[in-house]
Amino acid sequence: MTSKGFFITFEGIDGSGKSTQAKLLAETLGKHGHDVLLTREPGGSTGAEQIRALVLEGDPDRWSAETEILLFTAARRDHMENAILPALQKGQIVICDRFADSTRMYQGLSRGDLRGLVDTLTELMIQQEPDLTLLIDMDPNTGHSRAKARANKEERFEDFGVSLQENMRDGFIKLAEEFSTRIHVIDGNQDINSVQTIVFDLVKGVLK
Ligand code: ADP
Ligand code: TYD
Repeated sequence: MTSKGFFITFEGIDGSGKSTQAKLLAETLGKHGHDVLLTREPGGSTGAEQIRALVLEGDPDRWSAETEILLFTAARRDHMENAILPALQKGQIVICDRFADSTRMYQGLSRGDLRGLVDTLTELMIQQEPDLTLLIDMDPNTGHSRAKARANKEERFEDFGVSLQENMRDGFIKLAEEFSTRIHVIDGNQDINSVQTIVFDLVKGVLK
């Protein structure tokens, strides 16, 4: 399927600043005259937002790793069909807060090695990788305490503790080496404006 748009994703551990930077990038690109869709996962479409509550709330052990992969993939498929692909076909820049790389990490690495299963399902059901991924790298303790400070019901993954975040951070860095042309690592241990400038300069360069 050909698409006229451009697909950007933000990745990183919980509390690394993805949502903050995705929103700032969407605003800045909008001011520069681009047509932007800002969206997020899990969620971003009506059906996927319903699945979001199932995967982010409740007991950390409520789903097996395999069931969780299916739920996140189902949510992503609905999000693709109803939001991301229509926007890309209209020529919009889509900015998505988390995407399949999060499943490669959180479901693929955290409870045994299920990365192969995630990749197979992604290839079968999603069939689209981002054009550009910005990985915000962050100290796991800082990220975890920022995420816990939000105090809402969506704490299932934060309740796995800081060791999950350490594991995810290492995994994301290795993933950036594996997909070195698509994934760019940004140091998130800086103030919001400094990170924003780095993000915008990078995106400007790639969009040229
Ligand atoms: P994520 O989407 O990665 O979980 P958020 O963007 O929601 O992260 O940020 C988590 C918290 O940290 C928010 O309260 C946000 O205001 C704050 N924050 C984000 N970026 C920075 C930064 N560079 N320095 C300090 N605080 C930040
Ligand atoms: P998110 O709302 O982006 O959380 P945060 O702002 O703390 O980064 O995502 C919620 C949780 O969902 C997060 O802990 C990571 C997890 N997640 C997965 O486990 N797999 C996935 O495919 C996605 C998209 C998210």
